[in-house]
Amino acid sequence: MSGKKNISVAIDGPAGAGKSTIAKLVARAFGLEYADTGAMYRGVALVARRAGVAADDEAALSRIASEAVFSFEAVERGGSLVNRVFINGEEVTDAIREPEISSTASTVSALSGVRAALVAKQKQMGAAGGVAMEGRDIGSVVLPDAEVKIFLTASPEARARRRHLELLAAGKSADYDTVLKEISERDQRDATRADSPLKQADDAALVDTDNLSIEQVVSHICDIVTEKTGRRPLTA
Ligand code: DC
Repeated sequence: MSGKKNISVAIDGPAGAGKSTIAKLVARAFGLEYADTGAMYRGVALVARRAGVAADDEAALSRIASEAVFSFEAVERGGSLVNRVFINGEEVTDAIREPEISSTASTVSALSGVRAALVAKQKQMGAAGGVAMEGRDIGSVVLPDAEVKIFLTASPEARARRRHLELLAAGKSADYDTVLKEISERDQRDATRADSPLKQADDAALVDTDNLSIEQVVSHICDIVTEKTGRRPLTA
């Protein structure tokens, strides 16, 4: 292992495919930093909404994206790994998960000026390697040289079922049909935008999580990482 460059793992896929849970566990297994790029698009949406900036004001949104200072902190909470998210020093971990922020984030992420500003920050975060980064365009645009590229997918129904249970577990009132409709609308927007639409990189391994448990998906991805890099997981 010594003398070898720190590896990078790019994990892309649609909303609700399990990217966050899985990327965090893969990062821990190989001693990598975990980077959630969706949290950055959500952060721009949150700052914009608070400032009363319209979701189509590209100049103002691009400025917010380039001026924002993001930081992350992984903590163990109640037996699971939580990624605390800070913007300009303020913790926004929960605020960026509100449904209206999900929808605004999807809209602002279609703007090229916003993408350019955040992609530049993400490339910097990944420059030294040693990172498991999740998003939509990590393997294709942000870290095209990543040693391992995974495209995680699942049917819209399976993803809606998981998101619905997550919302209920968080004590939010949620209706399955509404969650499914929101996921389908976001998929459509994310896949059809002109700049960096969601799509599997040519050299990414496709992992369908529909009928697999989290442990099975993580174990499968750990095998792919080992096969591509010779690294073995530090933890099971
Ligand atoms: O993964 P997420 O749901 O937290 O992402 C929030 C939004 O940001 C989602 O609509 C897709 C978008 N996004 C993106 O366009 N590119 C990324 N690398 C990450 C997220």
